[in-house]
Amino acid sequence: MYNILIMYYYKIYTYGCQMNVHESEKLAGMLKQLNYEETLDDNKADVIVFNTCCIRENAEQHAIGNIGALKPLKKKKKDLIIAVGGCMTQQNGKAEYLKNTFPFVDVIFGTSNLNMFKEYLQKRLKTGKKVVEVIDGNYTIDETVKPYRTSYPNAWVNIMYGCNNFCSYCIVPYVRGREISREPAVILNEVKELVKSGYKEITLLGQNVDSYGKTAHFDYDFADLLTDICKIDGKFRLRFMSNHPKDITKKVVDAISKNDKTCKCIHLPLQSASTKILGLMNRKYTFEDYYDKVKMLKTAVPNCAITTDIMVGFPNETEEDFLDTYNATNDIKFDGAFTFVYSRRNGTKAFDMDGQIDDATKKDRIMRLVELQNAINAQKSTEYVGKTVEVLCEDYDEKRGLYLGRDEFSKMIYFSSEKSLIGEFVMVKITKAGGMSLYGEIGE
Ligand code: SAH
Ligand code: SF4
Ligand code: F3S
Repeated sequence: MYNILIMYYYKIYTYGCQMNVHESEKLAGMLKQLNYEETLDDNKADVIVFNTCCIRENAEQHAIGNIGALKPLKKKKKDLIIAVGGCMTQQNGKAEYLKNTFPFVDVIFGTSNLNMFKEYLQKRLKTGKKVVEVIDGNYTIDETVKPYRTSYPNAWVNIMYGCNNFCSYCIVPYVRGREISREPAVILNEVKELVKSGYKEITLLGQNVDSYGKTAHFDYDFADLLTDICKIDGKFRLRFMSNHPKDITKKVVDAISKNDKTCKCIHLPLQSASTKILGLMNRKYTFEDYYDKVKMLKTAVPNCAITTDIMVGFPNETEEDFLDTYNATNDIKFDGAFTFVYSRRNGTKAFDMDGQIDDATKKDRIMRLVELQNAINAQKSTEYVGKTVEVLCEDYDEKRGLYLGRDEFSKMIYFSSEKSLIGEFVMVKITKAGGMSLYGEIGE
């Protein structure tokens, strides 16, 4: 007699931000509990999950294209379960649209009930009936759902969910609900366990980490959290994102400056350097306020790297407004910038604004901005050559035949090694700069 062991496999497609990447780890955790193993091959999978994003139109188009492409596979393999969740499904009317456009999708769930995915999948398997459950409301915290982490030696930790800011272009508050903060003790415990089990870099996640605790029942803020996490024994790096220019305080900056474990690297989205546009965006700061925060950071943390998000083509952005942004980018010299073309999101305030910008103008502006930032990146990379930096080795790049990792400022560095150094801190001397990446040799 043979014992035939049947294996079941899952594949998860993830779109969007780190929050979603980490939520995919939670979905994987639920699938693991049901004894599914991961595969990267659609054909081998028994369950395929799409964890979607809707921050810009192209993020949605990307997911919609990938879901549509599965139709022939589902036709061939009737038992295949296809599930769609995440921010896209949570938009008004989107679940209905997905149900009608892709009748072969088996499970549709939202962001607020992500932690129920396991139950929905089991229900589908038991009854054979489609499950569509998108519930209006805030994220339901369920501390019993354990993520299956796939990014060793880095670990993501949510400190809060949702957003209360309602920037006028942004869909996030509509698809993620209101801000809720996790209990400090639960976060501290999670980080303690991660460090104990060997994780070397912890990234705290929140749409606006500076408002951590503001709507909670406890009197404990983001600076308190940073300070307490840094007291945890063991060598590890602490990152966090995103900070908000209207909310980052001197107390937070001091906590970053005083603690060795915090990376001296802050993501502080500017969006625009025109105070008129910032007003229309409902960002609640002027460009002068932003510049003051940058000065406060540079004074308290002299070697601090600042990265940012910038958007062009917001309604009513004139050439002068754009030049304000261009010149500020040139002046501040960010250590990295994610640059975006404004995308009109149904349901947001800016959707209905007069003065929408035509595509050709948007394209022209983004190209000029990207060119500028590329030149700044190249200049900054060149300045690295000859320096020796501490790198956390994260992975091996098969194509290049090199190990790679990042320094505390998130600069990607490639180097060679005879043995695997993944999960170790190594001193690397930078020998060559190439665009955003650097190359070096191990040694003091
Ligand atoms: N909560 C974070 C950002 C989340 S979204 C923060 O406030 O910093 C990441 C970035 O996507 C934003 O900073 C913004 O630059 C960009 N973005 C958001 N909505 C957008 C839209 N409708 N069109 C283009 N870019 C957008
Ligand atoms: Fe969107 Fe603004 Fe909230 Fe960031 S702070 S998620 S940009 S509404
Ligand atoms: Fe993130 Fe996209 Fe949702 S950026 S919060 S996955 S809309």
